[in-house]
Amino acid sequence: MTKFFEFLNSSVGRKWLMALTGLFLSLFLIVHVSGNLQLFKNDGGMAFNQYSVFMTTFPPIKIVSYLLHATILLHALNGFYLVIRNQKARPVKYASKKDTRSTSWASRNMGILGTVLMIFIVTHMINFWYQYKFGAMNWKTYVVEATTGKVVKEDMIPAADAATQNLQPVTMDYMGNTIIICKDLYAVVAEAFKNPAVVAFYVISMLALSYHLLHGFQSAFQTMGIRRKKFEGVIKGIGTFIFAILIPALFAAMPIFFLFVHK
Ligand code: HEM
Repeated sequence: MTKFFEFLNSSVGRKWLMALTGLFLSLFLIVHVSGNLQLFKNDGGMAFNQYSVFMTTFPPIKIVSYLLHATILLHALNGFYLVIRNQKARPVKYASKKDTRSTSWASRNMGILGTVLMIFIVTHMINFWYQYKFGAMNWKTYVVEATTGKVVKEDMIPAADAATQNLQPVTMDYMGNTIIICKDLYAVVAEAFKNPAVVAFYVISMLALSYHLLHGFQSAFQTMGIRRKKFEGVIKGIGTFIFAILIPALFAAMPIFFLFVHK
């Protein structure tokens, strides 16, 4: 066991820790962006609200969620440590622009990009995750026609009423219809993204995410020694087109959609 911790504390071990935690966080982003695509549905937020119930009540996902929080912390703290250690090892900055040519802008600024993302994640979790778990928020009832799947009636239950009734999320069949009662997280998201400052903050953060992943995804495979000639093209392609372009663009499209399209 001590050998394992000695390895973790070594330079190579810390880089492996960055690579493994980073790849786990990249997987989370795929799940998160896919689930959030339901925000684009024109169903009064029903699909997104039901998805949020599933993500916060299904036990295996609850466990993964705690693992996710620990991974974010580990990745950020270890990242800070590596940035500070590298700066101490190279007290003289690059002497000229020529010296920086062999490395990309993203690779030289991973610490700054990571810090922007940490500020984003903390703010983001306070606004949505904490609010959903512990805040007072309105609830919603949907009546869905079982045969067509269409929402035929929706009603809002004010937060104060929901609290006095001690509501729990539920989906039940009633006379050929499905009745769904759940917290209205969709309304919280839609309201937040009506604010242009919030939207700008999200779009700028997604630019930081794009650059962070442009270097980070490929670098993780290099650390693990998997970037041999055979796979190099595939890893570069996935890192660039999926993680640095598609995922940040889809995330950025969400606040933009609520500001300009959704009324
Ligand atoms: C603009 C697009 C985004 C929207 C609309 C969005 C929306 C949400 C919502 C509504 C929640 C709370 C739901 C729940 O707990 O189930 C949440 C949680 C979270 N989001 Fe996002 N998110 C976005 C982008 C991001 C990005 C880019 C990151 C990371 C870089 C991120 C990281 C997280 C984390 C870590 C949680 C907590 C998850 C958990 O504990 O299970 N989100 N997000």
